Amino acid sequence: MTISNTATSAVPTACVIGWPVKHSRSPIIHRYWLSELGLAGDYVRHPVEPEQAVAFFADFANGPFVGCNVTVPHKETAFAAVDHADAVATALGAVNTVWLENGRLMGSNTDAEGFIANLDHLAPGFDANPGAAIVLGAGGAARAVIWALQARGFAPIHVVNRTRDRAEALAERFGADIHAVGWEDVPALLPQASLLVNTTSLGMEGQPPLEIDLAPARDTLLVTDIVYIPLETPLLKAARARGLQTVDGLGMLLHQAVPGFERWFGQRPVVTPELRRLILADM
Ligand code: ATR
Repeated sequence: MTISNTATSAVPTACVIGWPVKHSRSPIIHRYWLSELGLAGDYVRHPVEPEQAVAFFADFANGPFVGCNVTVPHKETAFAAVDHADAVATALGAVNTVWLENGRLMGSNTDAEGFIANLDHLAPGFDANPGAAIVLGAGGAARAVIWALQARGFAPIHVVNRTRDRAEALAERFGADIHAVGWEDVPALLPQASLLVNTTSLGMEGQPPLEIDLAPARDTLLVTDIVYIPLETPLLKAARARGLQTVDGLGMLLHQAVPGFERWFGQRPVVTPELRRLILADM
């Protein structure tokens, strides 16, 4: 699918800004919903260089867009630039969804909501008895996942990261139930954990695989990966071979887009199997 990079028509148009942004699949998602719902509107990729990001937000109200998604490396800049950030964005220090309200620039972060909505959708009841969780990674995605898991009552949450300092910084930021642990601690933690989440880029196409021995896990462990290229990561493959329930990362991408679409275009869209197929066909 060819998708233009600029707002060209008079219909309400949203965009995704990033650098680079040419691989973003957000236009496919939003254009699918616009078409399904019969709404006049458009959604485009809008490349913004790092040095231009502050000016982009400062001039947003005069620009052609009704709102935007924000991706790497602009999420922190967006957080600093908006007139009002909601509670989640403030907790995460990052904004991925922007809209205008009475001329004021508003910001939210929908990554946490997208992560949880995907689990609610594909593993309903996953938080019926929330227990211990293990989160691999300590970047921006880990932050959103930890925030979401805390909100759903998971405790303790063990954070494992190559760079231990980053895991410790997260533990300090998010409170007493979050513990920074080492990779070597994982086998001893697995028998108690009800959820394992990979937020690192390990297992992504072109990256080394994530190798973890799931033998000690309890049979009810739910394993989820936020990597979605490939859809079946080495971690999910190993989990399935061990007979564990798994949820892949594509749904998080789809569900995090829902709140922005609703703000900009006025209707709440639905994540359908057809939308999943559309994204997979584009990979
Ligand atoms: P994001 O915002 O998407 O979470 P990020 O902040 O770059 O991206 O975080 C990427 C995560 O993947 C980090 O936890 C990173 O570990 P470091 O904090 O030690 O960098 C992890 N990661 C990336 N490549 C890795 C590798 N080869 N081995 C282990 N962890 C890796």
